Amino acid sequence: MTETEIKKGLAGVVVDTTAVSKVNPETNSLLYRGYPVQELAATQPFEAVAYLLWHGELPTDSQLAALRAEERAQRALADNVRAAIDLLPLEAHPMDEVRTAVSVIGASDTAGGGSVLDASGSPEQNLARSVHLYAALPAIVAYGQRRRRGQELVPPRDDLDYAANFLWMTFGEEADPVVVDAFNRSMILYAEHSFNASTFTARVITSTLSDLTSAVVGAIGALKGPLHGGANEAVMHIFDEIGSAENVVPWLETALAEKRKIMGFGHRVYKHGDSRVPTMKAALDTLVAHYDRPEVAALYDALEHEFVSRKGIYPNLDYPSGPAYNLIGFDTLTFTPLFIASRVTGWTAHIMEQTASNALIRPLSAYNGPDERHIDGYVPDATAQ
Ligand code: CMC
Repeated sequence: MTETEIKKGLAGVVVDTTAVSKVNPETNSLLYRGYPVQELAATQPFEAVAYLLWHGELPTDSQLAALRAEERAQRALADNVRAAIDLLPLEAHPMDEVRTAVSVIGASDTAGGGSVLDASGSPEQNLARSVHLYAALPAIVAYGQRRRRGQELVPPRDDLDYAANFLWMTFGEEADPVVVDAFNRSMILYAEHSFNASTFTARVITSTLSDLTSAVVGAIGALKGPLHGGANEAVMHIFDEIGSAENVVPWLETALAEKRKIMGFGHRVYKHGDSRVPTMKAALDTLVAHYDRPEVAALYDALEHEFVSRKGIYPNLDYPSGPAYNLIGFDTLTFTPLFIASRVTGWTAHIMEQTASNALIRPLSAYNGPDERHIDGYVPDATAQ
């Protein structure tokens, strides 16, 4: 009998097809529905990219206007969602807070028709619920940060686009266009990345014919971990530990001697650099100039230079986005929830794709426990308490 080959972590395993995005590590490229993500980030509002991920094509002016109207109508924090958030301790991790809020939305969502018990997964219902989550998440994330800071809720503004309104609800003041642009780019870069751990989780849940919100809640759980979305938060902890560029070398030597993972570096698929990094680094540079914080760029460059030259492992998107979000004024604990607000578009596009051509995802395992044995031979340990 031949030994079963185990692909630990499903590394290198192709599990299905997708038309949502294409990652090509050889050419260092990422395409959303065929478009290079760099081009989308440089030219499009996040709303248009959300539309592209869901529908497969960029919107016409009237399609974009319709999506924007739908999004604006669902921006405000719902009373029951706010009440659920307020029940949580202030020390709760914001990822748990957002996961709870999304769960509450799912239990009362009638977007796309049907009663609250009807989560049929029809194309119309799934699309409407996707738009609903995408529209509702900024208020949830913004309120979470404000609540932790002891600040009042800021209601949404109908006259601002998605990114500008997100910053308005978080900080209670209109952001500079430079900041809005950098934030919009980050939202686009985070939106989709093929069969990453959280998207795959969402597809596994969807494959059982569970509902869209349950799949998103599961995806949030997968995203929380520091090997996945939690890395942008972890990058900022590293920056805080290091302090300034001159401390990079001794800090890195100690960290490597302790065999620590340096957060924000490395990727399961990209081995020669993450295609999203140059665009996000350029956005970070504009923020560094805008806020006149050259010491942030100095630390960033020093750590990148030292780590890449010693290990040949390159930064991933979380490396520039962590300090970028810090400069904008987000609390470190809010970084991964921002990732949710963006990635919900990619997750839901995959959920709809999975629903359209479903097969239950149920892999096999190779058993390596004890050989068959029988209860007759079982003797309880008399010394056990
Ligand atoms: N710091 C130090 N060593 C590293 C790092 C790192 N960031 N990344 C990889 N390595 C080393 C690792 O220790 C291992 O060395 P050895 O062969 O000597 O044991 C080798 O490189 C292979 O690493 P691996 O963890 O087995 O490879 P993987 O394909 O499973 O790793 C990864 C992918 C993302 C889990 C890993 O690079 C990592 O833990 N990075 C830090 C966390 C991070 O930034 N995550 C965000 C990923 S991108 C955004 C997202 O998807 O959410």
